Amino acid sequence: MEEKIIILDFGSQTTQLIGRRIRELNVYCEIVPYNKFPHGDESVKGVILSGSPFSVYDREAFKVDLSGIRGKLPILGICYGAQFIAYTNGGKVEPAGSREYGRARLGRFEHDNPLLKGVREHSQVWMSHGDTITAVPDNFRVIASTDEVAVAAYQVEDEQVWGVQFHPEVYHSVDGTLMLKNFVVDICGCRQTWSSASFVDSTVAELKEQIGNDRVILGLSGGVDSSVAAVLLNRAIGRNLTCIFVDHGLLRKNEFHDVLHDYECLGLNVIGVDASEKFFKDLEGVSDPEQKRKIIGRDFVEVFNAEARKITDARWLAQGTIYPDRIESLNITGKVIKSHHNVGGLPKEMNLRLCEPLKWLFKDEVRRVGRELGIPEHLIGRHPFPGPGLAVRILGDITREKVRILQDADDIFIRGLRDWKVKDADGKEVSLYDQVWQAGVILLPVRSVGVMGDERTYERAVALRAVTSTDAMTADWAHLPYDFLAQVSNDIINKVKGVNRVAYDISSKPPSTIEWE
Ligand code: XMP
Repeated sequence: MEEKIIILDFGSQTTQLIGRRIRELNVYCEIVPYNKFPHGDESVKGVILSGSPFSVYDREAFKVDLSGIRGKLPILGICYGAQFIAYTNGGKVEPAGSREYGRARLGRFEHDNPLLKGVREHSQVWMSHGDTITAVPDNFRVIASTDEVAVAAYQVEDEQVWGVQFHPEVYHSVDGTLMLKNFVVDICGCRQTWSSASFVDSTVAELKEQIGNDRVILGLSGGVDSSVAAVLLNRAIGRNLTCIFVDHGLLRKNEFHDVLHDYECLGLNVIGVDASEKFFKDLEGVSDPEQKRKIIGRDFVEVFNAEARKITDARWLAQGTIYPDRIESLNITGKVIKSHHNVGGLPKEMNLRLCEPLKWLFKDEVRRVGRELGIPEHLIGRHPFPGPGLAVRILGDITREKVRILQDADDIFIRGLRDWKVKDADGKEVSLYDQVWQAGVILLPVRSVGVMGDERTYERAVALRAVTSTDAMTADWAHLPYDFLAQVSNDIINKVKGVNRVAYDISSKPPSTIEWE
């Protein structure tokens, strides 16, 4: 049985980051809502309480009874987690001065405490809290302080219970990962055996067991998640997996054929459906962004379902849902809700059960699993691409001609990014494509005057968009080299008929979004 750490989520923005750090230590962990501890699960080796947007005094603050866990498993409270444990045991928590945000240095600390073993003198930690612990209960021992924060960390005497008011999971806490390692490896005793290879082995075995000889349907999008899910399932059940790849006519240039070919080379049993006619017909004359999305969503379900129905003995629907999709949808404070865009609304009469083999993985782990499965790098390293495709990058109504112009311009930009090499921070040669999170071209609903040869032109303008990001929740515009932008602009204007102007989008998210619609 895979041993694991449970992270109780009290709604902090950094809860996912705690999970990532622990996975990076090759220890498996799961994030569950603060009140959903899996009592009775013997594979749990330790518990971490996350931070929270609430104060322990707020009426809506999340409270949990730890009596079933304390004494049985090691516990580490982070920020609110630490304050909650101190407060509910008779400690004092009060509003903090404004200086308890940002960098601080551990001044006095117990070097031989198991949690702090190896932590360097004056180690920088990152604080971010509105409240602070001003007095700890009698049986709590302060094990670290900073100039401003007396109780930077504590341990409950004779118990495996710790609290830290700083955030060890964030990058700016320089020995933070070491402290988490001390906790999960030394204190909880986890063996650091979680790896993409072990994930593939155990998941393939589980899928075989779960699915047996049933037939499974999976919708492929060309993206990383659905591709990895398909190859994983293919390894488990082979020809009993049928993949459906719908072309709505709004993919990148040649993408449908190229990706279909890749899928066939990977040995997948895949049905490619060219439904572009239907989508173009239904989108005719529609310029409202939400309306466009709705039509595409509805048509997609119709086309997918028509294909799925043909597989009359299917018992399962597989999806490439990954962990952040689920955490965002489940976010307990209700503040961030991102609906995910997978196939929805399958016919009820088909009575399919849901299979989501990647539902516990982060994006970079999905990529590692993909490499482990031998999926080629150009599929693994692909930028995210929106479900409604180029429809959300053509402002205004959609025609085949506009799609053609955008595909050509986009193709020049993306090829350019792949071909332009730069040195990364370690001196390694990488392409600009690999340095940005996502890139594409937007076709603007404006024409502008230009001059080509001796002729006056009155043609379309396009905008280039390239962003850096780690999760698409926030993003910055990519600082691409001017020489590169000059070359792409030149190529587009010279080679794409109908375009005489290229702009570069320098907005970050927020307040803008990555896509223009
Ligand atoms: P925004 O534009 O909201 O995009 O900053 C964030 C990320 O989500 C992608 N995106 C979509 N993906 N269906 C999708 O599958 C959609 O309707 C959709 N809209 C945006 C976008 O490309 C970016 O990666």
